[in-house]
Amino acid sequence: MAELISGKVVSEKVRLQIAEDVKSFAKETGKVPGLAVILVGNDPASSVYVRNKHKACLQVGITSYQIELPESTTEEELLERIDALNADEKVNGILVQLPLPKHILEDKIINRISPKKDVDAFHPENVGRIVIGGYDFLPCTPAGIVELLDHYKVDISGKSCAVVGRSNIVGKPMALLLTERNGTVTLCHSRTKDLASITSSADILVVAIGKPEFLTANMVKEGAVVIDVGINRLADGRLVGDVKFDEVEPKVSKITPVPGGVGPMTITMLLKNTLTAAKKQL
Ligand code: GUN
Repeated sequence: MAELISGKVVSEKVRLQIAEDVKSFAKETGKVPGLAVILVGNDPASSVYVRNKHKACLQVGITSYQIELPESTTEEELLERIDALNADEKVNGILVQLPLPKHILEDKIINRISPKKDVDAFHPENVGRIVIGGYDFLPCTPAGIVELLDHYKVDISGKSCAVVGRSNIVGKPMALLLTERNGTVTLCHSRTKDLASITSSADILVVAIGKPEFLTANMVKEGAVVIDVGINRLADGRLVGDVKFDEVEPKVSKITPVPGGVGPMTITMLLKNTLTAAKKQL
C-alpha cells in the first residue's frame, strides 16, 4: 500500500504558519497584505477556484478583493482594471483567473500585471528569473508540489523525474523546479514517442495533462512517487485525476489523492506569494 501524500494536511500546517507571519507583518508595518482576483465570465470551474481563493485569504488574514466581470468585458477594459490595481497600494498581489474568454489575449493581460504583483509568476520577467535563478515568486502549483515532496521526505537530487504535460502553468515550470533540485528531468507531451517507457523508468512522476485516469499501472515503476495534478469531472459526476488511482496506488510508494492532493497546495502557495509580495513592496 502506498503512503498518501495529503495536500490537505500539509496545506493546513503551512497556512497556520502563513497566518502567524501575516499577523507579525501587520504588527510591524501596520499593513495587511491584499490580493486581487479577477474573474471574467462565468466558467463554473473557475468560479469555484476563485471562491476557494477568497475563503483561503480570509482564513490567514489576507484582504481579498474579488472582481467579477461579465463575459462581454473587452480586452481594453480588463487592461484598465489591471492598471488601476497595479497603482493601488492596498493590493500586493494580482491574479487573473485563466482561461479568459476567447476575445481576450491572455499574453497581453499577463504582460500588463506588474511583475512585483504577479503572484502567479506567469509574467515573462518572473518566468525568466525562474529559468536563470534569483526569483521572488514561484508558480503556485509546481511550488506546492515541491513543498509536498519535501514534507514527505522525497529526495529529488539525482532522481529520474518525468513530467507529463508541458503547459506554462504546470509542466514547464515543474520541470525547471525539479531541475533546480538536481533531479534529472524528462518533460513529456502529446508528441512524445513511447511515453510508457519514459514514465515507467521514473522515480518521481508528475502528471498534468488534463485527461481523466490517463496514467495506468503499466506506465509506472514499482515504488515510484506519483503526483497527480489533474482534476477532471466525469459524466457520472465523479471527480478523478489524470492517474488511474485504484490500479496505480498498490504499485507505488507514495501518491497524491484527488481531491485533497495537489489542489489545496496551489492555493496555499498563492497565499505565501501574496505575503512575499507585500514584504517586497514595503
Ligand atoms: N487557472 C488554472 N490554474 C490557474 C492558476 O494557477 N492561476 C490562474 N491565474 N489561473 C489558473
